[in-house]
Amino acid sequence: MCGIVGYLGNENAREIIIKGLHRLEYRGYDSAGIALSGEGDGTLHIFKDKGRVAHLEEISGIDFVSHQGIGHTRWATHGVPNQVNSHPHDSEDGRFFIVHNGVIENYKELKNQYLDGRNFKSDTDTEVIAYLIEKFSEKLTVEEAIRKTMSLLEGSYALAIIDRTEKNKMYAAKNKSPLLIGLSDNGIIVGSDVMALVGFSKEYIPLDDHSFVKIEGNTVAIYDIIGKEMQYEVKAIDVDYLNIEKGEYAHFMLKEINEQPSVIRQIIGRYFDGEKVTLNGEVKKAIKESNRLYIIAAGTSMNAGAIGRELFEKMAGIPCEVHIASEFAYNMPLLSKRPLFIFISQSGETADSRAVLVNIKAKGYRSLTITNVKTSTLAREADHFVEIHAGPEIAVASTKAYTAQIAILAILAYTLSDQHINLRKELSKLAISMENVIDKKEYIEELVREKLTKRNCFYIGRGIDYYACLESSLKLKEISYIQTEGFAAGELKHGTIALIEEGTPVIAIISQRKINHNTRSNLQEVKSRGAATIVISTKAVHETTDQIVLDDVYELFSPILTVVPTQLIAYYAALQRGYDIDKPRNLAKSVTVE
Ligand code: AGP
Ligand code: GLU
Repeated sequence: MCGIVGYLGNENAREIIIKGLHRLEYRGYDSAGIALSGEGDGTLHIFKDKGRVAHLEEISGIDFVSHQGIGHTRWATHGVPNQVNSHPHDSEDGRFFIVHNGVIENYKELKNQYLDGRNFKSDTDTEVIAYLIEKFSEKLTVEEAIRKTMSLLEGSYALAIIDRTEKNKMYAAKNKSPLLIGLSDNGIIVGSDVMALVGFSKEYIPLDDHSFVKIEGNTVAIYDIIGKEMQYEVKAIDVDYLNIEKGEYAHFMLKEINEQPSVIRQIIGRYFDGEKVTLNGEVKKAIKESNRLYIIAAGTSMNAGAIGRELFEKMAGIPCEVHIASEFAYNMPLLSKRPLFIFISQSGETADSRAVLVNIKAKGYRSLTITNVKTSTLAREADHFVEIHAGPEIAVASTKAYTAQIAILAILAYTLSDQHINLRKELSKLAISMENVIDKKEYIEELVREKLTKRNCFYIGRGIDYYACLESSLKLKEISYIQTEGFAAGELKHGTIALIEEGTPVIAIISQRKINHNTRSNLQEVKSRGAATIVISTKAVHETTDQIVLDDVYELFSPILTVVPTQLIAYYAALQRGYDIDKPRNLAKSVTVE
């Protein structure tokens, strides 16, 4: 969600910032802007507007090389997306320019208490920050003014700040919203995630909450809110530049769907030595020491968590609950005596999940994060961390992270179970079976054209297939805007079947022997009422009229496979409607506000 890139150094600031903003586009945004220092002392050029970074690129042409600048992609929270509300925002007299990610919860109170009668230009919560810094800098040094402002802000912020009178300095601050500092001999970059830094910096500094950063020339100093210098860690960036390009694919989503078999093989390579699982012993110990697991996640990661619960309970016999992060944060249920919290998150930055982590850490509970981004906040702050190794996922609609998360959960559950399956072989089989479905994508494209002709759609299934339906329906709705529900097949007749009419698409997932007949009866019920049905089944349970028949795989792992045709269904439904597949409307890849 939204992004920040700031640069100070001897290279071309505009180029570096625009490139970084392009790399952060996947996070989701509605407006983009840049402030660049000019040639003369105290001059600054601002360009900003609603729309894409490509548009910003067009409107921000300058005929000199600037060495200092801040850029932003905005995901509007306060005030509609328009030119005025776009960032950067300046202070009342135009001395300070800031870009902000996050939400200032007490901005109205701050306006009333400190800035009464001032003339604000935008509807954003952000402007108050610039105004406060300017006001306080009348009596304090700039550094003190920023830190004093930070001490008053409630909510989340990642900030990059330029003082128009200081060409050789830049400031940054962070609380809750992610922010990193990229290092290089040619300058310093401030960015929301490593994607903005790749290709420029080889090393970065992750920032803790409440840090204040002063960049002067090529030196970085980090302070806490009272001005005490803080020690920091420098980490290596090992993201491969080629991994974040689309290559031959029309969309990142299609690329990422295609990558899934190799991700499964990558996971096998990382977590197996021969047939033996090589998982961090501490993680295993933490799970064993707990008497109940609490999976906390949002969206697709929560759907993976639902499969995780099945795996932990059915394979390993460990009680497990799955919770929506945003609900759990403020409505905690009664907990068991020795809970272990498992955070599942592709980005590792989801604010709803982080709110829970902060909360449970304060209560002294143990935590494990399963994520794709090892540099992320949730990875850093949990007691334990397992990487899913899916490689950068750029499309907003998560695909390979979901299947990789389930593969990791399967490995975890298996190592804690007394089951005797050849896990490595089962995972390898899955990778081949995924390839077999992906090879049929043209057929799936035609099926979508024929059957998905309405404004709504249903996915139905039972047991683990039902959980796969939840993810399948999320995928379809988020990129094709078809109103889709994932439904427990047997529950349909208790009300929702009223919505079935001539041509309503109903897609059934059937991969479990014991529920095959029941789900098929439910399919008959909707068919009799005119539904246009598609059946996704596995060989063991298939009927000759089923449209998509998949290889047989270990039943509990079947969502890793059954979801693949549904990802393709979503992709082609969006493609046929001409939508922006990788950046669907209103959505963000990394949801960094609660
Ligand atoms: C996935 O397609 C969605 N865009 C979204 O539901 C996502 O899964 C959710 O926001 C959680 O993100 P995370 O995995 O990065 O925590
Ligand atoms: N709350 C700010 C605004 O609405 C910042 C949003 C963002 O993080 O992009 O402008």
